[in-house]
Amino acid sequence: MKTLKIAVLPGDGIGPEVMQGALAVLEKVAGQEGFGLDCSTWDVGGAAIDNHGVALPDATKEGCRAAEAILFGSVGGPKWESLPPKEQPERAALLPLRKEFSLFANIRPGLLYPELVQASPLKEERIPQGIDIVCIRELTGGIYFGQPKSTTELEDGDVEAIDTMVYRASEIRRIAEVAAVAARERGGRVCSVDKANVLETSVLWRKTVTEFFAKEYPDLELSHLYVDNAAMQLVSNPNQFDVLFTENMFGDILSDELAVVCGSIGMLASASLGKGENSHGLPFGLYEPAGGSAPDIVGQDKANPCAQILSAAMMLRYSFGETAAADRIENAVKKVVKSGVRTGDIAFGADAVGTHKMVEAIMAELG
Ligand code: NAI
Ligand code: MG
Repeated sequence: MKTLKIAVLPGDGIGPEVMQGALAVLEKVAGQEGFGLDCSTWDVGGAAIDNHGVALPDATKEGCRAAEAILFGSVGGPKWESLPPKEQPERAALLPLRKEFSLFANIRPGLLYPELVQASPLKEERIPQGIDIVCIRELTGGIYFGQPKSTTELEDGDVEAIDTMVYRASEIRRIAEVAAVAARERGGRVCSVDKANVLETSVLWRKTVTEFFAKEYPDLELSHLYVDNAAMQLVSNPNQFDVLFTENMFGDILSDELAVVCGSIGMLASASLGKGENSHGLPFGLYEPAGGSAPDIVGQDKANPCAQILSAAMMLRYSFGETAAADRIENAVKKVVKSGVRTGDIAFGADAVGTHKMVEAIMAELG
């Protein structure tokens, strides 16, 4: 039997609460689709600081290395805010994990069911059918990492700071490939976002992307947009997009814009894919909800487990090729939310259920 080797890192805050639900759902679909699960659970973030003194213990790293995907909860909160910034849960756990596994592609579905359009700040008439697009962000290149990077006091008394934006064609092709694979699973339309009217890296980006799609994915419909226009289009008519992909800094901004346009953070999943292949010939990845540890609702059975459950579905799809199981989960979540069973964050004042009841409803829908 095919077995999926997963490192489970619930973290702190609402992480452990919503992770329970995701694991129950995973077990259920594993039985239905006939694959096995080999899950090992490790401390990370605040939970690891409390138990081991550091946010990312060596044992956790080892556990992740031995696995083929990481299912991550969330980390951070007021309890650890007095620590030096470098030791705080997010910086000391999530960033090193991204680095350790060269997680170069961040995938964020912008999904808003038609039943939840009032969660969006956009006028309902702009998105009568909800929103369903995917934003893919290059995560390890560009201006956040390019060298030189410096601040210098000049002889004339002024101060100058420098950041450098660097991209290689190979890095661009790698992220274009992720976008293409996502587009083939969806509507077949890809929009590449750059600033090719101003930036050298964007000129290379556009040329590389154009050649890559012509050669490798001629069946897909490729378009290009400048980032300033893309930012406007995302709020004026988001559904013109199917798959959107872009470099690191533009993607940082556009993916957050997309999240807010989609309204409810408790519904949004994400994936970060790494270099290389796991034993299934697919990318290693880290899968986590778009939101954080939600300290304001921790321990109250209020957290929406859907983002974590949908992250688990993305893991099945991208790191294990279990498309049918992923579809099962996504459909079950959609049906349950449509039926009106909702946690407080998406109930709009109507009766809400707690985390546990929400998971129960999704389990029941799975059959
Ligand atoms: P947050 O996403 O934790 O919370 C923002 C708001 O959204 C809160 O009102 C919260 O209750 C709500 N929310 C988030 N997830 C929810 C869910 N599943 N169901 C219902 N409501 C939900 O962001 P915030 O407040 O900026 O950060 C809190 C802590 O989380 C900080 O320590 C921050 O550093 C950390 N954080 C961690 C992330 C991660 O682990 N990847 C990402 C973002 C923030
Ligand atoms: Mg951001």
